[in-house]
Amino acid sequence: MSRIYDALKKLEAERRGAKGNGHNGGNGGNGGSGNGKRNGNGRSRWRWRFGRTQRREAEPRVALDFRLGPEVEEAYQRLGTNLLVAPGPDAPPVPRLLGVAASRHGEGTTTTVAVFASILVRRRSGRVAVVEANLRTPSCDAVFGVARNGGFAELIEGRAELPAVVQNTAIPNLFVITSGQTALGPSALFDSDGVAVALTKLREAFDFVLFDLAPVNVYSDASILAPRLDAALIVIEADRTRIPDVERTRRTLERVGVRLVGSVLNRRRDYIPAFIEELL
Ligand SMILES: Nc1ncnc2c1ncn2[C@@H]1O[C@H](COP(=O)(O)OP(=O)(O)OP(=O)(O)O)[C@@H](O)[C@H]1O
Ligand SMILES: [Mg+2]
Repeated sequence: MSRIYDALKKLEAERRGAKGNGHNGGNGGNGGSGNGKRNGNGRSRWRWRFGRTQRREAEPRVALDFRLGPEVEEAYQRLGTNLLVAPGPDAPPVPRLLGVAASRHGEGTTTTVAVFASILVRRRSGRVAVVEANLRTPSCDAVFGVARNGGFAELIEGRAELPAVVQNTAIPNLFVITSGQTALGPSALFDSDGVAVALTKLREAFDFVLFDLAPVNVYSDASILAPRLDAALIVIEADRTRIPDVERTRRTLERVGVRLVGSVLNRRRDYIPAFIEELL
């Protein structure tokens, strides 16, 4: 994970250099389209269903259009290769229940989960599920354009069976389980006995399950759930996340025994593949 630190240091230097060169090193200076999503023609590498301006955390999410540009596709494919292709016979098993978490809100966890899940399902013949485990600011329903009805909370509490909470998406073999509703707080929910049973059911039903986790430096939810998964990824927003914040996230997760398998550098601005960098 020290490579995360090195990469962030490099990014900071790039940011300083960009300012010195008269480029806009700040957020959204390129006409308000969001960093890292424009190519040299000023066109977005993402094709959003609605033209988006700058990210606003309070804005309602809109459904994601999963037709990715080739650079984004390639970058995520590389992440998939690093995760899925074991480097040797002694390598630990490929993680099948994978948590994804950021330090703070709005750094791109849900976006990363959704895009990576869409890549995984096209790459492998199996079934892939996204589980909304962020009960604080759930948005997987909006991103995938599905109903927000019963979901992970009901599954954990035994109030619903798996088939009742799994929803189809527009992508074949990619499924979503929304957060659901609970009278317990998220921490108590993830600490409850039902989690083990729910995770076993998910493992039996899907080849890969990606968990959209709440930001680690804001809530303890991810620290409770992630150790029960196979591994986790950290999402870093290239132009915003501060090094101490990432370090704190890493320490927090490692302290509770989470196997960290890498990080995703979201919204990277400059060269190709500009959107994401895998830093195992
Ligand atoms: N690489 C990107 N390019 C353009 N827009 C992005 C990118 N990544 C995220 N966004 C936008 O930024 C906003 C926040 O992203 P997202 O919802 O994925 O963050 P989050 O970490 O899940 O936030 P929260 O913790 O609040 O759930 C969204 O409007 C999303 O569309
Ligand atoms: Mg989110």
